[in-house]
Amino acid sequence: MKLLSVNVSLPKQVPYNGKIITTGIFKEPVNGRVMANSLNLEGDGQADRKVHGGLDMSVYAYPFEHYKFWEETLGRSDFSFGQFGENLTLEGLTEETVRVGDVLRVGDALLQVTQPRVPCYKLALRMGEDAEFPRRFQDSGRLGFYLRVIEEGEMGAGDAIEPVDTDGRSVTIAEFIHIYLHETHDPDSLRRVLASRDLGDAWRMYLEKMLEKAEPTPSPRGWEGYRTFVVERKVPESETITSFYLAPEDGETLPPYKPGQFLTFRLEVPGHANPITRTYTISDRPHPDYYRLSIKREPPPAHQPDAPPGLSSNYFHDHVQPGTRLCVKAPRGEFWLDPNDGTPVVLVSAGVGLTPMISMLNAVVAAGSDRPVWFIHGTRNGHEHAMGEHLRRLAAEHDNVHLHVRYSRPGPQDIEGQDHDAIGHVTVDVLKEQLPPAMYDFYLCGPTPFMKTLYNGLLEWGVAEGRIHYEFFGPASVLKAGAEKTPTKGTGDESSPAFDVVFDQSGVTVAWDPSVDSILELAEAHGLRPDYSCRSGICHTCMSKLIAGEVTYVVEPADLPDPGYVLICCSKPVSDVIVGV
Ligand SMILES: Cc1cc2nc3c(=O)[nH]c(=O)nc-3n(C[C@H](O)[C@H](O)[C@H](O)COP(=O)(O)OP(=O)(O)OC[C@H]3O[C@@H](n4cnc5c(N)ncnc54)[C@H](O)[C@@H]3O)c2cc1C
Ligand code: FES
Repeated sequence: MKLLSVNVSLPKQVPYNGKIITTGIFKEPVNGRVMANSLNLEGDGQADRKVHGGLDMSVYAYPFEHYKFWEETLGRSDFSFGQFGENLTLEGLTEETVRVGDVLRVGDALLQVTQPRVPCYKLALRMGEDAEFPRRFQDSGRLGFYLRVIEEGEMGAGDAIEPVDTDGRSVTIAEFIHIYLHETHDPDSLRRVLASRDLGDAWRMYLEKMLEKAEPTPSPRGWEGYRTFVVERKVPESETITSFYLAPEDGETLPPYKPGQFLTFRLEVPGHANPITRTYTISDRPHPDYYRLSIKREPPPAHQPDAPPGLSSNYFHDHVQPGTRLCVKAPRGEFWLDPNDGTPVVLVSAGVGLTPMISMLNAVVAAGSDRPVWFIHGTRNGHEHAMGEHLRRLAAEHDNVHLHVRYSRPGPQDIEGQDHDAIGHVTVDVLKEQLPPAMYDFYLCGPTPFMKTLYNGLLEWGVAEGRIHYEFFGPASVLKAGAEKTPTKGTGDESSPAFDVVFDQSGVTVAWDPSVDSILELAEAHGLRPDYSCRSGICHTCMSKLIAGEVTYVVEPADLPDPGYVLICCSKPVSDVIVGV
């Protein structure tokens, strides 16, 4: 194992995509010996310390073995040492053989492996390749790794690399890369990386957060069942969105909740025989004495102007007034933001999808956190734009808050640079244009086509799946291109045991049909119309009493239903069942 080259450079300014950027990625081989200091090599400098720099990422190493791979893949033969922006070009050590925490003697210095590299757009610039290159580099798994200097000393090309210590419980860099790219939803894999004693602090925090999400600790319910709230205020936010402030009738302090969570309502809508259930996000940071909702009035679909308008949203707009009493379930939901986490975050919304984002942003500001937040929002025009003034004020008053608003169809009254920043839809190209290079968490909420485009655009851009979070306001759908479920209709397993499903309140008994995906679909196939919203175990709108029998979940619910209840949108029977539908 040998050090083939030591490469350094100081940051310099270069043109890129019509802008001038500062980068230290153009490393040049050094003749002679170089001092390895704890923050960087002598003569070396880093432009963006989030990507390369600090104690855990002071030296970046790349295996020479990959040079050949990239020359063949890219059809090139013009590479020189430092080609990938690395400080050390090594021979005989690859991601498969190196573990997090391995200690290596190189010349007089003692180095310790900390983590893989996550490439940024500057690699494309350094390589003279197109903007897709960082993603190809990431997908290849040939990422190289960072080292911290634990004993300063000189080193030079030709020095032998001697392993001094290894932590057998640590993951190899290759395993780390695989888990980061593919398994951030798997608690066991995350725990495996976290067991690596010498993991860098930033990664430890990020992976701990992923683990918390992958394995949510059941939060104690604020209250069981429904609690009565009284509407205190009703405030129009735009021509289509109105906010409602609700206080608990019992006057007791409200339990804490996480910004981004929602409430479930049971509503007695005039002219509607049965109560309906709907969910609405709390659109403000946690307050001890009230919740705020911001609800969009749903018109009939554009292609069916004669259809009835949205039942609940129009009820709220037309009938709910200060003094109205509402039955509300405690906050729940897994789409939430930790305001005190330091990772830069991008909150991307369209239309009324801004409600969880406002709650998250307000929570960051209220916590006094300096977490960088980019609030990127798209709506049709100034008539439909809610809370614009509030957002502009936060962006003006807080250096860490950045705002970009687009109108798809501005009216004559809308002034660019004042009410909105540009015309058009929010796309990944807009994000690329707005966001300085960094590792971000992305939160998405808006209509399904908007989320599909952004989700796949972000993946193509090289954003790890685990960093993209989203919430549907309507029926959930598969976002990832090519991952749509193969239709199973009509391919029923004839040998499935025959169970009866009794829809108790409707007086309907039918045999379970293995060609449908859920008890909800079975009910609909027999003319029943139970309430639903997300159809994927998130919102609990479909929660029904399980009077007898047993079910299994075909999709694991985000949050289990109350005891004695079942989420019929994502379950099927494993015995005869009686449900309260
Ligand atoms: C987790 C979560 C959080 C949410 N947060 C918010 C929020 O913060 N703010 C918000 O505004 N919404 C939010 N929603 C959406 C909300 O729950 C409702 O789905 C929304 O208000 C529409 O409900 P509705 O009863 O008004 O419309 P529905 O009565 O459910 O109708 C939906 C649409 O179908 C059309 N329709 C009805 N009947 C027919 C028919 N026979 N033929 C053809 N079309 C028909 C209606 O015109 C309407 O366009 C959230 C949803 C979820 C799942
Ligand atoms: S419809 Fe949302 S959980 Fe069933």
